[in-house]
Amino acid sequence: MLEKKLPNHLLQLMLKPLLILFIGFYGSTSFSSEKNIITPTNNTKQLAQGKRVYNRFCSLCHGMNLQGQPNWRTRKPDGKLPAPPHDETGHTWHHPDKMLFDITKYGLVPPNAPANYKTDMPAWEDTLNDEQIWAVLTFIKSRWPEEIRQQQREINETSIKNK
Ligand code: HEC
Repeated sequence: MLEKKLPNHLLQLMLKPLLILFIGFYGSTSFSSEKNIITPTNNTKQLAQGKRVYNRFCSLCHGMNLQGQPNWRTRKPDGKLPAPPHDETGHTWHHPDKMLFDITKYGLVPPNAPANYKTDMPAWEDTLNDEQIWAVLTFIKSRWPEEIRQQQREINETSIKNK
């Protein structure tokens, strides 16, 4: 019994990293052809740019460590929501890249929020160009653990398929 199980188990252990590598590679190559889709990257220049943009324009509300504001799930007395974390404890990673880009550029307006939605999240289109927005999102994504990046890649894929 043991003799039979052991090799199988070992094989699985060896295959898992290979599979993850393959999916990661497949994910990044297939998305790079999609103009609007970014992926976590090791492009250090883009990451450095994204970090600068983040610290200057986003950290005030979303936190220096992407931790968000305290009690971010509870509406404030003014009825608006505090800024959520951008790390893995928030729900930024529940959204496909294109939606994160649109929210950052245009703010929380339809189709990403109800019309006349009251929020403290600014629209950045007059402050940041598209390159800066992709950079800051890439920086945010680079801070997620690999497991979360993988899940968000799948969310991306589904959103592209359903277009
Ligand atoms: C003045 C405060 C403030 C600043 C500055 C700010 N945000 Fe936000 N952001 C918010 C708030 C508040 C929300 C949640 C809004 C809501 O749900 O009503 C939010 C939500 C978001 C979301 C949606 C997250 C989700 O899980 O749905 C994204 C993406 C986002 N912000 C990106 C950014 C980026 C990128 C920057 C910097 C360029 C930035 N924000 C700067 C306040 C801010």
